[in-house]
Amino acid sequence: MLFKTKELEKTIKKHVLAMLSVVVMLVSGAMFTVSAQDAPTPAEQAAAAAETRQSLFRLFIFNLRPIAAMAQGAPFNAQIAERNARRIAAMAPMITEVLAPDTRGFDLETEALDLIWDHQDDIAVKAQALIDNANAFADAAATGDMAATLGAFRAFGGSCGNCHDTYREDND
Ligand code: HEC
Repeated sequence: MLFKTKELEKTIKKHVLAMLSVVVMLVSGAMFTVSAQDAPTPAEQAAAAAETRQSLFRLFIFNLRPIAAMAQGAPFNAQIAERNARRIAAMAPMITEVLAPDTRGFDLETEALDLIWDHQDDIAVKAQALIDNANAFADAAATGDMAATLGAFRAFGGSCGNCHDTYREDND
C-alpha cells in the first residue's frame, strides 16, 4: 500500500513537471513570436529606409515644382516662391539623416548609388549647398523682385541636380 502511494506520488510529480515544461515551452514560444514580430529584419529596415528617403525627396519636388514652373513662364508669385523655398531649406537638414542608413546589398526599389555610403561628408556638403541656395532664393523672393528671384533659381535647382549627378542612378 505504502509502495503504491509512493509510486502514485512519483507519477503525479512526473506529470506536473511534464505539464510545467509544456507551459514553459508555450510561453517562450509565444515570446519568441512576439519579439520576432517586433524586430524588423535587416531587409525590412533597409526597405523602410529607402521609402523614408524617397518620401523626403518627393516632398522636395512637390515644393520645387511650382517654382520651376514660374522659372518656365508661369505667373510669378513671390509668396509661394519664398514659402516653398523655405520649406525645402527647413527639410534639407534631414538629407544627411535619411541617407545615413547603409542599404547597400539589399534588393530594393532604389536609385541611390552605392558610393553614397563612402562619401557621407560630401553628402553633407551637398545638403548644405541646397540649404544655402534655397535660403538665398527665398531671400530674393522676399524682396518681391521677380528678376532677382528667378535669377537665384539656377543655383537653387542646380543644387538638386548637383547631388543627383553623382549619387542617383537617373540623373536628369
Ligand atoms: C545630397 C544629395 C541630394 C540632394 C541635395 C537632392 N537629392 Fe534628390 N535624390 C537623391 C538620391 C540619392 C535619390 C535616390 C533615392 C532612392 O531612390 O532611394 C534622390 C531621389 C529624388 C527623387 C525621386 C524620389 C522617388 O520618388 O523615388 C526626387 C523627385 C528628387 N530626388 C528630387 C530632389 C529635389 C527637388 C531636390 C532639391 C530641392 C533634391 N532631390 C536634392 C539625392 C539628393
